Amino acid sequence: MNLKTTYMGLELKNPVIAASSPVSQNIDSIRSAADAGAAAVVMFSLFAEQLETGSETPYLPDVYTVDPEAYLNLLSLAVKTAGIPILGSLNGITSEGWVEYAKKVEQAGAAGLELNIYHVAADPGETGADIEKRHLDILKAVKNAVRIPVAMKLSPYFSSLGNMAGQFDDAEADALVLFNRFYQPDFDLDAMEVEATLDFSTAAEIRLPLRWIAMLHGKLKASLAASIGVQTGAEVVKYLLAGADAVMTASALIKNGPEYAGTLIKELQEWMRIKEYDSVEQFKGTMSQRAVPNPGEFERANYIKVLETYRRKQD
Ligand SMILES: Cc1cc2nc3c(=O)[nH]c(=O)nc-3n(C[C@H](O)[C@H](O)[C@H](O)COP(=O)(O)O)c2cc1C
Repeated sequence: MNLKTTYMGLELKNPVIAASSPVSQNIDSIRSAADAGAAAVVMFSLFAEQLETGSETPYLPDVYTVDPEAYLNLLSLAVKTAGIPILGSLNGITSEGWVEYAKKVEQAGAAGLELNIYHVAADPGETGADIEKRHLDILKAVKNAVRIPVAMKLSPYFSSLGNMAGQFDDAEADALVLFNRFYQPDFDLDAMEVEATLDFSTAAEIRLPLRWIAMLHGKLKASLAASIGVQTGAEVVKYLLAGADAVMTASALIKNGPEYAGTLIKELQEWMRIKEYDSVEQFKGTMSQRAVPNPGEFERANYIKVLETYRRKQD
């Protein structure tokens, strides 16, 4: 069975990638994911705040308090010993400091670089156009600085996501990762405090990225990676059917251990065997918007249909 896929110009032995998360916090865990069959590992992010101050920031999780030098050393060790492509990750909201570290990540041997522009657009004085421009400026600055492929990990909250994806594509993003999962604070009613919750994702959460991957597949030069909600091989298969070139997973590997990447791959193979597919290429994108008989399924027409099925259920 041929599970190969090409993601951001990299030949991967299968589509399952360990997403940026604490799975990459130490070399043993990176190797476990690699040994289990993960095709690539995205390192946890270096945060812009760390790069600017050179020190820990109060809101970084403990696992991420490594200094940039240690990060680069771990990345370089992973590149030398894991035997699969290792991607770096930078997380921030401005381009300051990024370009320098993008180069260092490249020098450390990363096969590619993921940019996570984690921004909550809450400033009433800042327009959507301002935010879009900042994203593009960061991408262009990093693309100019490195030769390795660069992926943009996107927020789902752009008002015109299709257009934004096209703009990233024009600016030569090598891949788009759909989506970044923004953490949403809750309230602790006993302590009367804002609670920073870190819930793991559920399989139901694949639907937002699934729809967008299905709608963008075949329309861009950039590769597409799915991120959010992969718990079993079924979600991997669905994302590939929608047209993802690679499928990333974080929550499932944190919960079940990095070896769980192997289970996801086995379940993908098992599904391919039952459906008699010999290669991932054979079915990738076959349920994308372009490929399905009724493309409206992904848009407004489907909403009307869904409401009708709801009414039928009530009758
Ligand atoms: C504990 C934890 C830490 C994470 N750290 C990062 C990070 O450093 N950089 C990043 O881009 N994404 C980070 N993520 C987000 C994941 O890469 C992923 O996009 C998100 O969890 C959705 O995928 P999942 O449903 O498979 O968990 C983190 C996720 C978790 C759960």
